[in-house]
Amino acid sequence: MPESTLLEAPILPKDAPFSSEQREWLDGFLASVFAQFSEILKAQQEANAPVSTTPITVLWGSQTGTAETLAAKFSKKGKKSGLAPKIIDLAEYPHEQLSEETHLVILTSTYGDGEPPDNAAAFHQFLLSDKAPKLENLTYSVLSIGDSSYPDFCKCGIEFDERLQQLGAKKIFNRIDCDVDFEEPFATWTQGVIDAMGLVSPADDEKEESSISRKNPLIVELIENIKLNKEGSVKETRHVALSFGNAPLEYEAGDALGVYPVNCPDLVDEILKKLALDGDKSITSCDGLSKTLRQALLTDFDIGGLNKKVVEAWTKVSKRTPPTDDYLEGRELIDLIKDYPIHFSEEQPFAALMKKINPRLYSISSSPKAHPGEVHLTVGAVRYETFGRQRKGVCSTYLADRAEGEFSPRVFVHKNKAFRPPTNPSAPMIMVGPGTGIAPFISFLQERKATEATGKNWLFFGNPHSSTDFLYQDQLESFQKEGLLNQFSTAFSRDQEEKVYVQDRLIEEAPEIFKWLEEGAYFYVCGDASRMAKDVDYALYLAIQTQGSMSGDEASAYVNRLKKEKRYCRDVY
Ligand SMILES: Cc1cc2nc3c(=O)[nH]c(=O)nc-3n(C[C@H](O)[C@H](O)[C@H](O)COP(=O)(O)OP(=O)(O)OC[C@H]3O[C@@H](n4cnc5c(N)ncnc54)[C@H](O)[C@@H]3O)c2cc1C
Ligand SMILES: Cc1cc2nc3c(=O)[nH]c(=O)nc-3n(C[C@H](O)[C@H](O)[C@H](O)COP(=O)(O)O)c2cc1C
Repeated sequence: MPESTLLEAPILPKDAPFSSEQREWLDGFLASVFAQFSEILKAQQEANAPVSTTPITVLWGSQTGTAETLAAKFSKKGKKSGLAPKIIDLAEYPHEQLSEETHLVILTSTYGDGEPPDNAAAFHQFLLSDKAPKLENLTYSVLSIGDSSYPDFCKCGIEFDERLQQLGAKKIFNRIDCDVDFEEPFATWTQGVIDAMGLVSPADDEKEESSISRKNPLIVELIENIKLNKEGSVKETRHVALSFGNAPLEYEAGDALGVYPVNCPDLVDEILKKLALDGDKSITSCDGLSKTLRQALLTDFDIGGLNKKVVEAWTKVSKRTPPTDDYLEGRELIDLIKDYPIHFSEEQPFAALMKKINPRLYSISSSPKAHPGEVHLTVGAVRYETFGRQRKGVCSTYLADRAEGEFSPRVFVHKNKAFRPPTNPSAPMIMVGPGTGIAPFISFLQERKATEATGKNWLFFGNPHSSTDFLYQDQLESFQKEGLLNQFSTAFSRDQEEKVYVQDRLIEEAPEIFKWLEEGAYFYVCGDASRMAKDVDYALYLAIQTQGSMSGDEASAYVNRLKKEKRYCRDVY
C-alpha cells in the first residue's frame, strides 16, 4: 500500500455517549492500536517495495541548496523505483572513481558569471582537463538548474554534459536545463531517467505535496518592519519580522526564506490604464486558474524587469523588430507598453503574453531557538531611477512598503544545508557579512548563544557610515559585552578619505585569521557576489599564503581543503 493511503489515527465521534474521562482513555487506546497497526503496514510496504538493484551515482553541485535538495528527491524516487542511488556531494567525490562508474546522474546549478557552484569547482576543473579519463562504459544524464535572466544560462550543467559525451559516455536521458521554475522540468527529467532505465516509479507522495513548499507557500503575518539605517543614509535596510505562530514552518540557522511578492498596486493601475484594459474582467492566469486581470497583475505576473522571451513575443504581436538586449537593462513592462504599443481588444491575449512572477530569497536573520514562531529578514530596499522614471525592486519594496493585511507575505523555507554554523560547538567561526550580508550571522550568533556553544566568534561587518549604517549595532555590541562575539572588525568605507572594505580588514588581520584557521575555524561569507565575495576570496587566499609562507599553489590547495571540509562556506547573491 503506498504511504499516501495511510489513515489518520481514529478518534471518537464528538457525539459518542462517553464521559470525558472515558473518552480520553478510549482515544488513547485507539491511538496505541493504530500506532501498532501503522508499524505493521509500514513493514509490509517496505517488504513490497521494489528491491533496489541498479546502482546509480547521484552527484550534486549546489551553492544554496536547490540542486542538493533535488538530488535527494531524485534518489528517494529512484529508490522506490528499483534504483540503488549513492548520493555524493561533488566536493567529496573522489575523481579517480569516475572511470569505475556505470550509471551516473549529475544535478548542478550555475553560479557567478556562468561558473560552477563552489562545491563543484574542483570536479569541473578536473573533468574539463586532460586528466579526465575515457568514459566509454558510462551512461549518464545531467539536470542543469539556473536562471535564464543570466547570460550564461545553466552553463555548468551544459559543460558537464558536453564533456561527458566527448569522453565517450552515453546518455541515459537528455539533459534538461531548468529555469527558476524547476519543479516540472525536474519531474520530467526524473521520470525520463527512470523510464529510460526500464524501471517503474510509484505514485508521488501526497504528504510531500501538502507540506509548506515553494509550490505551497504559507501566509505569514508581518509583526515588525524597522528601518535599520538612520536619517541621512543613502541606504534603506529593513529588519522585517514575520510571525507564523504554530504553523509547521521549519527552518535552521543558514536557511533562506522564499517570499512571493505582490506587485505595486499603483503600477498595476498605471498598466491597466495605459493598455485601456478592464482589471475586473476574468482571465486565465499563469497557474491555469481563472481570476480578475487586476489580481493576476498583482500576484501572478512578472511586471518588473523585462524578460527576453516576453519582449520577443510582445514585439511579434506589435509587428515591430525586437529591441537589442541593451533595451532590457533598466526597463520594465511599463516601458515596453509605451515603446511598443499594442491595442488589445480583450484582456486574455495580454494575459497570455505575461510570464509568472518569481519568489525572491532572503537569508534568514533569526535563530528559531531564539525566536520560536518567528522568522526575521534583513532586506535592502531597491529603489533607483532609470530612463527618467523612479523604479522599485519588486519584492524588497513590497516587504518594505505594504506586506500587510490582504497583501500578507506568502513564504516557504529554502533549505541550505551547506551554510550552517559548525556542528562542533567549540569550533571557531569567522563571519564576513557586509551590508545585508550580516543577516545569517545574526542568526548564527543567536543560535550559538541559545545552544551555549563555546567556540570563538569573529565578525567582519562593513557599510558606508558608522553613524547611519551600523546595522544591528545594539544587538552586536551586547553580544560583544556578553563575550559571545570575541572579535568584531568593522569597515565603514566612507568614514575616512580612503575607502576601507571588509577585504582590507581581512588583510590587516591576516596573522590572526590564519591562526584561527589553523585552530579549525570555519570561514563564512555572505552578501554581494559580484565584487565583495571575489575580493574576500582573494584576501583569504593572500592571508593564507603570506602567513603560512606558502607558494600560490599551496595556498590554493589550502583554500580547496577548507572548501572540501565545508569550512569555507559562501551564501552570496
Ligand atoms: C540566497 C540568497 C539570499 C539573499 N539574501 C538577501 C538578504 O538577506 N537581503 C536582501 O536584501 N537581499 C537578499 N537577496 C537578494 C534578494 O533575493 C533580491 O534579489 C533583492 O531583494 C532584489 O529583489 P527585488 O524584487 O526587490 O528587485 P527586482 O525587482 O528583482 O530588481 C532587481 C534588479 O533591479 C536592477 N537594479 C537594481 N538597482 C539598480 C540600479 N541602481 N540601476 C539600474 N538597475 C538596478 C538590477 O537589474 C537588479 O537585478 C538574496 C538572494 C539570494 C539568491
Ligand atoms: C549570484 C548568482 C549568480 C548566478 N549566476 C547564474 C548564471 O550565470 N547562470 C545561470 O543559469 N544561473 C545563475 N544563477 C541562478 C542559480 O543557478 C539558481 O538560482 C539555482 O536555482 C541555484 O541553485 P543552488 O541553490 O543549487 O545553487 C545565479 C544565482 C545567483 C544568486
